[in-house]
Amino acid sequence: MTAHAATSPSIGLASIGLSLPPLALPVEELAKLRGQDPQKYTLGLGCQEMALCPPDFGAVEMAVEAAKRALGRWDGDLGRIGMIVVGTESAVDMSRPLSAWVAEELGLRGAVRSYEVKHACYGGTVALRQALEWKLSGAAGDKAALVIATDVALYALSDPGEPTQGAGAVAMIVDQPDIAVIDPMSYPWSEPAFDFWRPVGESFPRVDGKFSLDCYKKAAENCFRAFVGDDDAQQKLSALAAICFHVPFPKMVKKAFLHVGESFGWDYELSNQIFSQKIDPNMGWNRQCGNAYTASLWMSVAEALAGLDEGQQITAFSYGSGFGAELLTLTAGPEAATGAWTADIEHDLANREHIDAAGYESLRDARLAASA
Ligand code: COA
Repeated sequence: MTAHAATSPSIGLASIGLSLPPLALPVEELAKLRGQDPQKYTLGLGCQEMALCPPDFGAVEMAVEAAKRALGRWDGDLGRIGMIVVGTESAVDMSRPLSAWVAEELGLRGAVRSYEVKHACYGGTVALRQALEWKLSGAAGDKAALVIATDVALYALSDPGEPTQGAGAVAMIVDQPDIAVIDPMSYPWSEPAFDFWRPVGESFPRVDGKFSLDCYKKAAENCFRAFVGDDDAQQKLSALAAICFHVPFPKMVKKAFLHVGESFGWDYELSNQIFSQKIDPNMGWNRQCGNAYTASLWMSVAEALAGLDEGQQITAFSYGSGFGAELLTLTAGPEAATGAWTADIEHDLANREHIDAAGYESLRDARLAASA
């Protein structure tokens, strides 16, 4: 923890809830449709399965379910929620915030600040930081914030990004740090760029995939260098229990971390060793659901926190195209060891239906018809 953090009141994650949609497609099935070697997707990109939504299901439904699960295992009640903020790039309206749909389902109304945050995949992190800073400012009084990151990542048919599709939601209650303290100090980096964007009225993003990797690497290098400062990089990163990244697809994370290692003057062996020990194990849930945009990093963080001993520290690197990034540090609280929220993922993975290539084509047709 930084000196600043030591003098601030401890605020952080009091509860976590996750939700995945009810369908999944193994990437090998997509490879059949696109005439690709499946190893391009599994080895080349590091993907396994993509979580998919039926036509009548999406970011709102997952957000509501994740929120109910987080509230259900929190020891506070709905009356203590003074802020609901949703980070998403799957907005359902240009004016009405997605938080209003969720609040309606939860029966949350009254002296509550309710809004939506957009900054591509970084939006959930901005929402979380705002909730943290609201608590730390004293403006929250004894109220808690409900922060939700929720997204459905779908690309145009045959787009190179198609194998990285996914969906999911993570809800976090920001209050007493039973699960993790979030350090008030963080390390942001942003630069205006068109690496991935979705013009108003268009259904699918436009992606310059290779350029987005360059932007992501540059952001990671700057955030990690700021975090390390004048300290010894190897010592500082090795002392962490886990290093979590936003996961557009697992290979992108590895490429970015090798780049961070190079900037510290490390050879491949050292970077790869730290990647294998501290990063790769936190991407298990991501591999099973694909890219869930804003929820992607927080899914990895939720996986990493589960089972940690109190006091163990992790970092979380958030990236959103456009681009904006921020590196956060979290310290496990007494409830991290229980990993209670893993039950959400286990439940959703056990209950989802796997579809095949033909099922995927029908699903895309049905979604298209539903949105027409
Ligand atoms: N077996 C094993 N690996 C294979 C392979 C095979 N048969 N065929 C190709 N590959 C590897 C390639 O070598 C490459 O790996 P490398 O980059 O380590 O060399 C990888 O698979 C991808 O192949 P590539 O030809 O670069 O794929 P592509 O041009 O079709 O698309 C992306 C790749 C990343 C550009 C595309 O998936 C994309 O745009 N994704 C979305 C990016 C995104 O989410 N950006 C926003 C992030 S915040």
